[in-house]
Amino acid sequence: MAILCWGESRAISVYALLCQSLPIGRLFLLLQRGGLPVKRPYYVTTPIYYANDKPHIGHAHTTVLGDVLARYARLRGMEPFFLTGTDEHGQKVLEAAQRRGVAPQEQADEITACFRDGWKRLDIAYDDFIRTTERRHIRVVEAILQRVWEQGDIYLGRYEGWYCVADEVFWTEKDVPDGNCPECDRPVERLTEPNYFFRMSAYQDWLVQYIHAHPLFIQPEIRRNEVLSFLRQPLTDLCISRPVSRLSWGIPLPFDTDYVTYVWFDALINYLTAAGYLSDDARFAHLWSSTTHLIAKDILRQHAVYWPTMLQAAGLPQPRTIFAHGWWKFGGNKMSKSRGNVVKPLELAKVYGADALRYFIMRDMPPNRDADFDLDRFDQRYQSDLANDLGNLLHRLVNMIGRYCNGCIPDSGNPMEEEMELRQQCLDLIERVFAKIDRFAVNEALAHSIGVVGEINGYLERTAPWKQSKAGQVERVRTSLYTAAEALRLVSLLLYPVMPGRMSELWHRIGWQPPTPLRVGLEWGELCPGNSVVDGPPLFPREIG
Ligand code: MSP
Repeated sequence: MAILCWGESRAISVYALLCQSLPIGRLFLLLQRGGLPVKRPYYVTTPIYYANDKPHIGHAHTTVLGDVLARYARLRGMEPFFLTGTDEHGQKVLEAAQRRGVAPQEQADEITACFRDGWKRLDIAYDDFIRTTERRHIRVVEAILQRVWEQGDIYLGRYEGWYCVADEVFWTEKDVPDGNCPECDRPVERLTEPNYFFRMSAYQDWLVQYIHAHPLFIQPEIRRNEVLSFLRQPLTDLCISRPVSRLSWGIPLPFDTDYVTYVWFDALINYLTAAGYLSDDARFAHLWSSTTHLIAKDILRQHAVYWPTMLQAAGLPQPRTIFAHGWWKFGGNKMSKSRGNVVKPLELAKVYGADALRYFIMRDMPPNRDADFDLDRFDQRYQSDLANDLGNLLHRLVNMIGRYCNGCIPDSGNPMEEEMELRQQCLDLIERVFAKIDRFAVNEALAHSIGVVGEINGYLERTAPWKQSKAGQVERVRTSLYTAAEALRLVSLLLYPVMPGRMSELWHRIGWQPPTPLRVGLEWGELCPGNSVVDGPPLFPREIG
């Protein structure tokens, strides 16, 4: 195989060279034809979360989504690289530290440990966890600032405006008619001070054209339209510094150390740092054009306006996609500590299991709307989709294979029309699921998959192996049980990215070893006759707690 003839690093540098001059599709075709072992990269990122508080359900949502998309990418034969991390500089973190009487770095260390631990408990397999206080990141922030400064897109000006300390946002007069921050409703302060500005306004026309020319750059469409409508107003320049005298917890500007970098100019650059920018050029060239930034709608402007213009000013290419999902709300309200309505993901995972929580948050949030977190609905979905449809199907199958086939997966016998139909439904499901994943509609992908679980249950009801057995139709029993088990295996593979723990257990129960690469498993007929099934406790117990 080509992979044996080519050293990985050699293959990657050839790839990196070609990357700069060819459209991505043609490039892969060319390399694959040339026998090069190139896997399509899939670089997926979450926001880096403020190190001021513990993770809540909103953070968990975006991070589970990243994990799910990375796992789907691997299932499709791509090479995912999944990044998450923490945003550790700035006013918010400093204030949280001061409230607790600890140093800001200590505050950041503790919260970062909570995030890492939380992600472990939710079975999140990130490839890198970046912290903005790391040296590798500070270097890159300094280099970008220096570059943009030298080319004249950063200048010293005077900032005067209304400032919200909690959100670290300056507002204009018309944003704060009542003197309160439009985001958090807290009083804003009047501030005037010399500061550095990024000449963002110079990139407005370019950005509008870029968004028009790249329909999938901002997804879903509702968010793209929001950005385009925001860009109908003249874009102002962006204040990108804070005087050290007012805020010391940040990265000093390389060209004026009396100032630190505004938290967004620091934070956004994490995506470059982790992709190998300025540390591993080949890797950066390999990954960058596949970048998918996952965020929620609260930080759309920073990602879809600040970030592209910053990259353009620094002479760097754009990410492929920015996907902004909606918010998890509670009782129709925004979740907030002060309202006391914050859903704690780890507590739910303790009760229902990490996979059930992952399933629910992915199943109940459409890509283009907010969702209300409803514990009753969580319980209903758990009972109906997981305990009943999926768990019960496995239980029945393992039981029947135990009873009628000595506990071993039977051969497929002689499939007839009904078997061919179920097989086709499973094969169609693969395409349908991947098409939904391409549009970030994991909720619909799951609905389709659970729908096919229902079809398998229906198939068993119709063919009724217990009746076939009574009637002495031994071969029909084998065909029915093989077909149902193989169909369940295929569906479980498509559910695996969302429920990796429980689906691995399901495979163990039906005596299936997942192949490497996993994509091979997406063929019909991978389940080996003769392998033993394993009985065990319910996959999703009905009794909770
Ligand atoms: N530090 C910045 C991001 C910098 S990225 C370069 C930040 N941090 S944050 O801790 O406030 O996280 C915001 C993100 O958390 C949202 O964009 C979203 O991904 C997730 N969520 C936080 N609350 C949420 C909900 N209620 N619902 C869904 N997701 C939300 O902003």
